[in-house]
Amino acid sequence: MANNWSPDGWKAFEAKHLPKYEDPAALADAEKTLASYPPLVFAGEARALQAELAEVCYGRGFLLQGGDCAESFAEFHPNNIRDTFRVLLQMAVVLTFASKQPVVKVGRMAGQFAKPRSAPTENQGSLELPSYFGDIINGIEFDPATRMNDPQRMIRAYSQAAATLNLLRAFAGGGYANLRQVHQWTLEFMGRSSWAEKFKHVADRIGEALDFMEACGIDPNTVPQLQATSFYTSHEALLLQYEQALTRQDSLTGGWYDTSAHMLWIGDRTRFEGSAHVEYLRGVENPIGMKCGPSLEPDALLKMLDTLNPARIPGRMTLISRFGHDKVEAGLPRLVRAVQREGHPVVWSCDPMHGNVVKAESGYKTRPFDRILAEVKGFFAVHRAEGTHAGGIHIEMTGQDVTECTGGAVAITDERLADRYHTHCDPRLNAAQSLELAFLLAEMLNLEAEQRRAAA
Ligand code: TRP
Ligand code: MN
Repeated sequence: MANNWSPDGWKAFEAKHLPKYEDPAALADAEKTLASYPPLVFAGEARALQAELAEVCYGRGFLLQGGDCAESFAEFHPNNIRDTFRVLLQMAVVLTFASKQPVVKVGRMAGQFAKPRSAPTENQGSLELPSYFGDIINGIEFDPATRMNDPQRMIRAYSQAAATLNLLRAFAGGGYANLRQVHQWTLEFMGRSSWAEKFKHVADRIGEALDFMEACGIDPNTVPQLQATSFYTSHEALLLQYEQALTRQDSLTGGWYDTSAHMLWIGDRTRFEGSAHVEYLRGVENPIGMKCGPSLEPDALLKMLDTLNPARIPGRMTLISRFGHDKVEAGLPRLVRAVQREGHPVVWSCDPMHGNVVKAESGYKTRPFDRILAEVKGFFAVHRAEGTHAGGIHIEMTGQDVTECTGGAVAITDERLADRYHTHCDPRLNAAQSLELAFLLAEMLNLEAEQRRAAA
């Protein structure tokens, strides 16, 4: 257990990107309510995820992490949850089938509400208001009342997270994720893309394999591994008031867990020495992710790893690199080498989204799909060259047919961005783009496996 740590110890450290609440009594009231509510996840589940991630550390699996940039109160609907979940299932099936390795499935869901912003305020015309910090803090509408920080929003976020997690658990264990359903996960609007055809082919072959097993006397309906899947939740541990209120001591081990999600990550802007966010995460025993951008020096990374994972527990740390398509091959190797040299066990995951944001001529913030794919390819190339395992992908995506990232097989042009641009923050991959990415990942994982076989 971490030394000299308490759930509110972060308050003595430098906290960037935390909202100031005007009314301390209202904040205390919301925190007290949250602290009395049931945990959203159980410590044993966080340990199960950590064990799965430990396998990924050793090169025996792949982490698939995805969901909204920011969840919102307005888009809270069972169909949205289902559609994001089904695209993640499709991606997982493609990856498992191609790589013959287990895929660890983690949603950026059921708690991904708070956003760090580069500017504290936003100007429209002559009016200056606080920026939008995510639905758990204030509202997106450019209006003085809506942009006020409201601690009661934490309670609403908790209840939305609870309902989302409940539905995800029901889908994962209740039959929706049964491999016999693999054809049903295809979304109608993907019918035209060549990747939908390719997916149908994979689904047909899985169906055949199940038929074959059945003919051999194995009834797939009695094999739990074929009928259900494990699905975990995660978000950026940014709003520490919320995370602290959901921090609980596990009755089985005595360890502290952040029970707002199975896995928490720390963003590129809050991972500095002396950071309140680092101090908080140091003491909870959930698996932890850390974003690694171009400004991170190898020595600073090693220090962070010593702070966050002094016992060097495999599965505890996932390093999520986000360099940009043109920087990853130059910047990532020095981090990989430093971590290898020190022998820290980590999962290396690739966030190809946050280093590839551009402003389209139309004014929309977008991400060209070819740059996203280029960063993924660069990430795999680095790991092939270093002999390390490219262990995961971290993406902002949705099951909805949105037009937020340009490019892809059903090409979205700059002019089309306005058609269905719905995100509350950064542009997300739509369902077809997500599936296309899964096939590229499958190809890359097979290249890695080939190289490993040749070396053996
Ligand atoms: N239980 C296995 C797994 O989660 C196989 C499986 C069942 C599966 N349903 C799935 C894999 C849906 C991917 C998607 O990996
Ligand atoms: Mn984002």
